[in-house]
Amino acid sequence: MKRIDTIAGLRASLDAARAEGRSVGFVPTMGYLHEGHVSLMRAARRDTDVVVSSVFVNPLQFAANEDLDDYPRDLERDSELATAAGVDVLFVPSTTEMYPDDHPIATTVTVTGASEGFEGASRPSHFAGVATVVAKLFSIVGPCAAYFGEKDFQQLSVVRRMVADLSMPVEVVGCETVREPDGLAMSSRNAYLTEAQRAAAPVVSRALRTAADAIRAGETDPSAVRRVMADIVAADTGPETDSELDYADVVDAVSFATPDPLAGDLRLLIAVRFASTRLIDNVGVTAPVAPTRGS
Ligand code: PAJ
Repeated sequence: MKRIDTIAGLRASLDAARAEGRSVGFVPTMGYLHEGHVSLMRAARRDTDVVVSSVFVNPLQFAANEDLDDYPRDLERDSELATAAGVDVLFVPSTTEMYPDDHPIATTVTVTGASEGFEGASRPSHFAGVATVVAKLFSIVGPCAAYFGEKDFQQLSVVRRMVADLSMPVEVVGCETVREPDGLAMSSRNAYLTEAQRAAAPVVSRALRTAADAIRAGETDPSAVRRVMADIVAADTGPETDSELDYADVVDAVSFATPDPLAGDLRLLIAVRFASTRLIDNVGVTAPVAPTRGS
């Protein structure tokens, strides 16, 4: 695996690969890799000829009170995991390579609609920071297939919309969420949890699964579905976990609006705060089609 730190170096390397007719697969990350990231790298390895992954903790997507300085980093281990997953090129730009000190960024990308609500409501400038850095990375990497996790479902929607609206030469590929054996979605931020919080954290995916089961069993009232999730989180988190439900909702998987009664392809979305660590998760569920009269 080659490590490249400069924008010009990466461009030259990938332009040369494309000139030889090789396809490029791209997996953007903020590092501190786990099996979730690795699954994206393997999918890219399966589908494309040259796999590039980036490790860049993007300051633009962190608010002033968030964990930018504390965000976990371990580049040596990341290199080993990326090599084992079949990554050909690891792009590790410095902050000044991406955002030069003498050239503060004046152009940002805002995706309306998909960026509003849920994560966008809790973290107002977050998705503009994500969209801007992803646009910049796409511009550096060039035509490619880019792999994103469904774990960050709203992020995936924002990126898809940006690519469609701006005609970017990128095929966005969404990949399933990878979970710990107890159901907790893998996340670099799980490393922040105390023992008691880690023990309680599977409640997040359990709430989603129970709500999905209720919909499959015929529940069509969005309030009832929200209540199922809120009740499970309240019942299964003790005061020692210092936890609070941020949101638990059910939306249309494309529009993010809540159909009432529930129908079609839905996404259950949840965010729970354990002290200052926010865990997010989601699952897809299709509402059963009600039998029509006479059938
Ligand atoms: P990061 O949190 O490092 O995630 C990188 C990619 O890995 C994202 O597409 C994310 O959805 C995916 N991922 C994380 N946990 C996963 C899991 N348990 N299963 C499957 N995929 C998972 O998301 C970002 O970085 C940044 O916002 C980024 C897109 C790199 C822009 O800075």
